[in-house]
Amino acid sequence: MTDSVSRLPRRSALRLLGGAVAVVAAAAGGFAPASRAHARSGRGQGSGARVEGLLARLTLDEKISLLHGATDPRPLGQAGYVPGVARLGIPPLRLADGPAGVRVTRHATALPAPVLLASAFDPDLARRYGQVIGREGRALGQDVLLSPMVNLIRTPYAGRNFETFSEDPLLSAHLVAAEIEGIQGEGLIATVKHFALNNQERDRTSVDVRVDERTLHETELRGFEAAVAVGTGAVMGAYNKVNGTFACENEALLTGVLRERWGFTGWVMTDWSAAHSTRKALMAGLDMEMPDGTHFGTALASAVRDGGVREQYVDRAVRRVLTVMDRFGLLDGTVPQRPDRDAKAGAAVAREVAEAGATLLRNAHGTLPLTGGGSVAVIGPTGARPLVSGGGSAHVVPEHADSPLDAIRSRAARVTYALGEDAFGKPVPASALDPAFDTEAQHVDAGRTWTCDGTLTVTDAEAGDDWTFVLHYSGTPPLRPKALLDGEELFPLVPGWDEYFMGGLLTHAADGLSVRRKTWKPARGTHRLSITAPGGDTGQLFRLRRITAATRAQDVAEAVRAARAARDVVLFAYEDAIEGQDRTTIALPGNQERLIEAVTAANPRTTVVLNTSSATSMPWLERTGAVLQMYYPGQEGAAATAAVLFGDRDPGGRLTQSFPADDDHHPVAGDPRRYPGVDGTEQYTEGVHVGHRWYDAEDVPPLFPFGHGLSYTSFAYEDPDAHWTADGLDVAFTVRNTGRRDGVAVPQVYAGPAPDLRLDQPVRVLAGYRRLALRAGEQRRVTVRVEPRTLSSWDPKVRDWVLGTGPRTLWIGASSRDPRLRTSVRVGG
Ligand code: BGC
Repeated sequence: MTDSVSRLPRRSALRLLGGAVAVVAAAAGGFAPASRAHARSGRGQGSGARVEGLLARLTLDEKISLLHGATDPRPLGQAGYVPGVARLGIPPLRLADGPAGVRVTRHATALPAPVLLASAFDPDLARRYGQVIGREGRALGQDVLLSPMVNLIRTPYAGRNFETFSEDPLLSAHLVAAEIEGIQGEGLIATVKHFALNNQERDRTSVDVRVDERTLHETELRGFEAAVAVGTGAVMGAYNKVNGTFACENEALLTGVLRERWGFTGWVMTDWSAAHSTRKALMAGLDMEMPDGTHFGTALASAVRDGGVREQYVDRAVRRVLTVMDRFGLLDGTVPQRPDRDAKAGAAVAREVAEAGATLLRNAHGTLPLTGGGSVAVIGPTGARPLVSGGGSAHVVPEHADSPLDAIRSRAARVTYALGEDAFGKPVPASALDPAFDTEAQHVDAGRTWTCDGTLTVTDAEAGDDWTFVLHYSGTPPLRPKALLDGEELFPLVPGWDEYFMGGLLTHAADGLSVRRKTWKPARGTHRLSITAPGGDTGQLFRLRRITAATRAQDVAEAVRAARAARDVVLFAYEDAIEGQDRTTIALPGNQERLIEAVTAANPRTTVVLNTSSATSMPWLERTGAVLQMYYPGQEGAAATAAVLFGDRDPGGRLTQSFPADDDHHPVAGDPRRYPGVDGTEQYTEGVHVGHRWYDAEDVPPLFPFGHGLSYTSFAYEDPDAHWTADGLDVAFTVRNTGRRDGVAVPQVYAGPAPDLRLDQPVRVLAGYRRLALRAGEQRRVTVRVEPRTLSSWDPKVRDWVLGTGPRTLWIGASSRDPRLRTSVRVGG
């Protein structure tokens, strides 16, 4: 390999197996409460002896059965299963997603998306979020959680930006560590993912990410390192390649960084079907293949029997798995009884997180908070149907989620509703079809097949329009109705994720029917349309609908009428992200930009609530009264949104990613080598200038900067004072609530480059922050501790961290672009 990562120095095994690891583990915490004492006492002889004793008694086949996924004889709908070895008292492991709640077939608390949690800038809240998932995972029969995800937000297009925390390495590191402590404190084993550089969905299973060693350590790895430092039980390898080698068989990462540099003692599993080899992967440091044994099943057993793989490497992997199981009390029967699910406590945390992370981006002319006395027009599909969570493996189905419309109705005197943007279509009129049939409610009986061969007529007025055909159907693939238009299949089956993942909003109609769409530019005249719908074993219901220029115009006109008639408008705009695919633009999808323009023209007291995954461009921004970023707010999102809109809660969130002005002004714009990659390879040439650091380095104004978010009150920052101590930097300042309402301030400390380092450094890095609730008129003195690591750079020459000594500028401000105080301090004495 020619990559720089592979050349990382190996630290002495002795040192790591002795002092360093003991220190990490002791500081780790995160054991199940009942096993804390055990873990403390068992860390030495006892626990190691138990694992070694088991290893000596396990047969080769039994060992191998612990290293790959298998079919669960009693599945609970979770993503993975590893059978135990009953004769030796080794229990099976059930592994469930995911980042916003426990994903099994039973209902679970749908927490707000992690990006919304992160927006609260509150590690303590992240710990409680983890506790909810930890307890619920155990209650729902799980042993391992496939979360948290800590890949950085590098591109606004990445399909899973909602599932992770931030573009900032420090904030991500704090949050992932706290959440893992919360999860593991309840006795559920956490899995930090996806190691490493799975920063996009496009080509995720093949893209080769090229990155230099310094960038890797200073950006993406920081969160993983923090997860290891608090004792994450497991790490999930990413799908992509890193510097030429698949992450799941990348020795430089799995052994060089994870084990030798960081002292990780848990196990590494693949992402789902991300293994590519047997010997290479095992030797590189992979311990477990999921969800099956394609490479780590019989292939591994044969390799050992043939002498191609030494059994000690199998033992090494098994030892890692068993050591974590033992740490969680799974091998000696000290694991606590599974608790009951506490749905009420989960709901309370879900609500608190959604309120704490609600990020008010704009508030002109006192548009917010709303008063309950006036009339409110609610507009937009996610106003009536809550967008609870994003799509893919992080999708969680709760018992219940209110609609924002109902929550607003319970607060305001007069509330009207208009759809405004239709994602599910209107019936195709029978007059356009020959033979005419009811496209709205076709029931096909079990064992029958419904067919229709006819024509669809497009009028002169409709020709050249943009149509979207929308198919709603109840059958599961391959029972999807087949529709051929002029001989071409409208809704072809695409095997893979497309068929597998549930979306947040778009893939299912309100009544649960699956939904697929196809755009079409019709020519005038008649077109051949033939439909075949199989009834299967249970029968099938399907509808064929369409969205046209005329239906769009009707929806907008209805919304404009509602907006005109009301004092205030709350317009819910959405973007429905799903794992496995990236966006192609940061503009709102569909007709929503035009809808916002028309509605704001009719009523400037319009608040746009964004139920989106990540950054959005807002060419309509100046026309609005207010913009509230709620992402995917979980099952309690409606109540939380209403509480913030009506001012019961101060919007406590701040952006954890920069919002670019448009598709041409962000860190990966205009250079396909940076994104999405060229010829399968992608270069992280922005180097250490990830996220807000790039906007500063290139002097590009973002639409909204990292750290931005308004309160309903105002704050003054005063009297900065900074001291270097042996343990780091203490930055003190006073924050005063200068307004008439109680509110939440999130002052942020940024540090400038170190003059003593001859390295290309960021203009400023986030060095610390503090979330503060202050009553009207209250002031508080705050001291933010900045760790030496935050003031250090990775020096590729010495292949280690070096402290950035010398005089350094510090800013204390309300965002990366809103410095309120400036001071300087000599770092390093
Ligand atoms: C995702 C993982 C997830 C796994 C199991 C994969 O497609 O990338 O994040 O944990 O599926 O559902």
